[in-house]
Amino acid sequence: MTGEIRISPREGLRGKIKVPGDKSIAHRAVMVASIATGRSEIIGFPENEDCLSTIRIFQALGVQIEITGDRLIINGKGLGGLSEPENVLDAGNSGTTLRLLLGILSGQDFCSIITGDESLRRRPMRRVVEPLSRMGAEIIGRGEENLAPIAIKGKKLAPINYLSPIASAQVKSSILLAGLYAEGETSVEEPAKSRDHTERMLRLFGAEMKNDGLKVAVKGRAKLVGREFRIPGDISSASFFLVAAAILPNSEITITEVGINPTRKAVLDVLEEMGVKVNLTNVREGIPEPVADITVRSAKPLKPVNLKGEMVIRIIDEIPILTVVASLADGESSILGAGELRVKETDRIRALRVNLTRLGVRVREVSDGLIIQGGSHLQERDSLDSYGDHRIAMAMIIAAMASKKGATVLNTDCINTSFPQFMNILNTCNYSGG
Ligand code: S3P
Repeated sequence: MTGEIRISPREGLRGKIKVPGDKSIAHRAVMVASIATGRSEIIGFPENEDCLSTIRIFQALGVQIEITGDRLIINGKGLGGLSEPENVLDAGNSGTTLRLLLGILSGQDFCSIITGDESLRRRPMRRVVEPLSRMGAEIIGRGEENLAPIAIKGKKLAPINYLSPIASAQVKSSILLAGLYAEGETSVEEPAKSRDHTERMLRLFGAEMKNDGLKVAVKGRAKLVGREFRIPGDISSASFFLVAAAILPNSEITITEVGINPTRKAVLDVLEEMGVKVNLTNVREGIPEPVADITVRSAKPLKPVNLKGEMVIRIIDEIPILTVVASLADGESSILGAGELRVKETDRIRALRVNLTRLGVRVREVSDGLIIQGGSHLQERDSLDSYGDHRIAMAMIIAAMASKKGATVLNTDCINTSFPQFMNILNTCNYSGG
């Protein structure tokens, strides 16, 4: 873990900015285009480490992928056209890459081994290995099939109707992708609706999908055909700037062409509940997903919130930055039912408790979340630490901007996994005062 950035307090953040394309959608775009037949052209591809890991892996599986700026040309190989990789596949820091890929590799007639960085090798994989094994794949891994490196011997898969114990888009997507290789219909039912990018992407490429409440099904042996489309801006990346504008005095920011998929935009609802006015303009039904321009200005007073249940699933990646807003709100906020945060790129519950405490916030860690006493001015106590997690790093940079004297954020290189342009965009915004 390396990199450190000294952040000074700021105010008067102003500007009209664009954030790179949605990381979740980009992974799916590369994967589905690679197993479709014919040419796909994808614009708005975000050049971050995680998405580049997905590209490198599909190149190693024999797919021709050309990158020019934010444009990708993929010559799809068809469902059965991937070839056995010569070496171990490396998903880097990307859980989405590893878990979704396991679904695709389970249906191949070859053997592959996939690994990742130190953080990814600690993250639980049984949640996908178990249902994929039930479909017939032969998978072995460390920790009794729970940890990467994982070896997969693809097999002729049988469809399943899977009742998932957790609401996870990665689990759902992995099984649906494997379902493409099974004869008949494969379905996944989850306890609450997770993000639906895979369903949308598969439908766009021509797969037959069915939705019934919390259950989604795909018909196997689908004929996927290459497409042209634009990936909308990443709302999770946009959230750091939206929160910066909300909490720094005299600020107003507009972020253009941001994806507002209903399963992703709940962060906007939470901000509104906290007293932030969120303005959507230019709302349009993009392909594959709806987009809008989002404007936020400074808000005071900020109200506390109690987040739990389904809401937590819909804001799972935005919780780090929302805890910064909660720290400045008038009263006690709680985030509960968020135990999944313990198995993200780092234990985010612990990382947030340690960092917010260093900023002088009274925060209590519980097993599945955090209780935050708002109303504090953020102090400079010590340096803040990302613990190698990109979203913790960016959230703490915004917190430091809102603190009295600024702070140094340690281990910031991990920002490159999702948003290498983050500091550049932050530094090119206009600021007054501060
Ligand atoms: C993602 C799903 C979520 C999210 C992750 C990206 C995806 O994880 O936290 O950053 O692209 O499918 P889970 O499915 O584990 O909740």
